[in-house]
Amino acid sequence: VWRCPICTYDNEDSFSACDICGVLRNPLVKANDRSESAGGILSSVSETNVFVEPNLTDKGRENFNGVLEKSYSGTSSGKKLVDFTSESSNSPYPSSLKPKADIETKPTSLEPYNSKKHTMPEMLEGISNQLNLAVVGHVDSGKSTLCGRLLHLLGSVSQKDMKKFEEEAKQIGKGSFAYAWTLDESSEERERGITMTVGVAFFKSGKYDVVLLDSPGHRDFVPNMISGATQADAAILVIDGSMGSFEAGMDAEKGQTREHAQVIRSFGVDQIIVVVNKMDVVGFSEERYVAIKEKLGTFLRSCGYKDSSISYIPASAIENQNLIAKPSDDRLYWFEGPSVLEAIDSIQLPARDYEKPLLMPVCDVIKSESERRILACGKLERGAVFAGRKVLIMPSGEMASVECLQRDAVVCDVARAGDHVALSLRGIDDRYVVSGGVICDPEYPVGVGRHFELKILVLDISTPILIGAQLEFHVHHAKNAARVEKLLSVLDPKTGSVKKKSPRYLLAKQSAAVEVSVDGSVCVEEYSKCRALGRVFLRWSGRCVAIGIVTRVIQ
Ligand code: GTP
Ligand code: MG
Repeated sequence: VWRCPICTYDNEDSFSACDICGVLRNPLVKANDRSESAGGILSSVSETNVFVEPNLTDKGRENFNGVLEKSYSGTSSGKKLVDFTSESSNSPYPSSLKPKADIETKPTSLEPYNSKKHTMPEMLEGISNQLNLAVVGHVDSGKSTLCGRLLHLLGSVSQKDMKKFEEEAKQIGKGSFAYAWTLDESSEERERGITMTVGVAFFKSGKYDVVLLDSPGHRDFVPNMISGATQADAAILVIDGSMGSFEAGMDAEKGQTREHAQVIRSFGVDQIIVVVNKMDVVGFSEERYVAIKEKLGTFLRSCGYKDSSISYIPASAIENQNLIAKPSDDRLYWFEGPSVLEAIDSIQLPARDYEKPLLMPVCDVIKSESERRILACGKLERGAVFAGRKVLIMPSGEMASVECLQRDAVVCDVARAGDHVALSLRGIDDRYVVSGGVICDPEYPVGVGRHFELKILVLDISTPILIGAQLEFHVHHAKNAARVEKLLSVLDPKTGSVKKKSPRYLLAKQSAAVEVSVDGSVCVEEYSKCRALGRVFLRWSGRCVAIGIVTRVIQ
């Protein structure tokens, strides 16, 4: 017999993996053999690669015709989920249109980047600052209601539209969701009463042009939440203050408050507004608010947030308490802090890379077959873009020209790093522009890879990560099936030095260096060179199991 190092069960000598927990007897032997799947519990995910193919929705069509009024969904609801189950069909491209990047890697220009030539700084003067604000939190905490209410109060949603939402929501027995309907636009979202895709909306706060990214809270849609969160400069974490609901959000297994806070922090977001919502349900109790603040504060500190970068606000989105003005309900007499709007205006913008080569991860694609135009939406991470500019689309390696662009849903001449934009592209086959791709400067193409070395932090998992584990690999808006090829070392979380070489498994809360390969190819850069393309998430079975950074592109 041999004893399993994880569960200590005594297995028969002929077993290559533990009969109880599935841990490999000798994982290193088969580390590079993909034909024999490793037997760990975390290696049991099927190799299906799910690629989200955007379809033009009615809303999208309307937007595309120039009336992009308030929002498109980050991964819009009219999309088909296409399964690429066979090896050969893992790429989103048809075989007749093999992307150039799969054949050759373009050399990076040796010339130093000349921002004057590419970004036309005189055009950038006088543009107001955009603040990308992710609204995250546990399912049903009131995120969409809060966003809808803010938009209505600040005049981004007309009285007429609001009345229409109220009447229609009442008709299907969902009257309490009227404000949420401002962001939840698809019929499925409205019928189910949950957000499924990231809703994008704009309002002016006084200091900023705010881009609200309303995330889904349901655990099934965490990949969409991640896609929206990659664009965030700061976040609003919405907590349901009612009895039992805050606690459900903090549950280690199923609580999305935890996962969202960790995801947002690992994207480099360090400024966060905690809105303790639904305070009307607990009679605006100071005691309840303080208890939530203390418990959540301990958790947020453990995620790396500083107390000085967190604002806590007790509020009620439904009753309009503490949203854009001081509360009118006497029961909130004890609170002396800012309203949600004041807290938004006190956020400091992160530094923007205006003077570096253009880089825009594509979040969403809207296609107009009739006009043969493609609208690519996302946040400009670096550089600037203007109408008429030639751009390179990766990983396909195809060129396109920017016909026109929209910022805050308004047609404009130029946009720069930090802006959330929609670029109308011409001169490219629509199959090459996909969500998860990257638009960049033709002379400074981003890297494309399929085998990487990562430094990761393992989250609260109950089963160990083994060599051969089949996971989902998330980087910017791309999502690929992936496999753990090697466990290189366990690292000291404080110093980063190697504590143990070639571990056989990784446990919760360990830091480690690992090698991972993905199906297909993905636009990735080392984190030290480009943060936006170097932050990754590993998910398994509907949960984030590790967060990390790319330290080396091996292939
Ligand atoms: P997901 O996007 O599915 O995660 O939900 P959500 O966080 O966007 O919640 P949503 O805005 O859809 O609201 C869920 C329910 O909570 C609705 O019935 C709202 O009316 C209700 N709700 C939201 N805010 C408040 C509030 O301040 N007080 C009370 N009593 N109910 C609220
Ligand atoms: Mg919602």
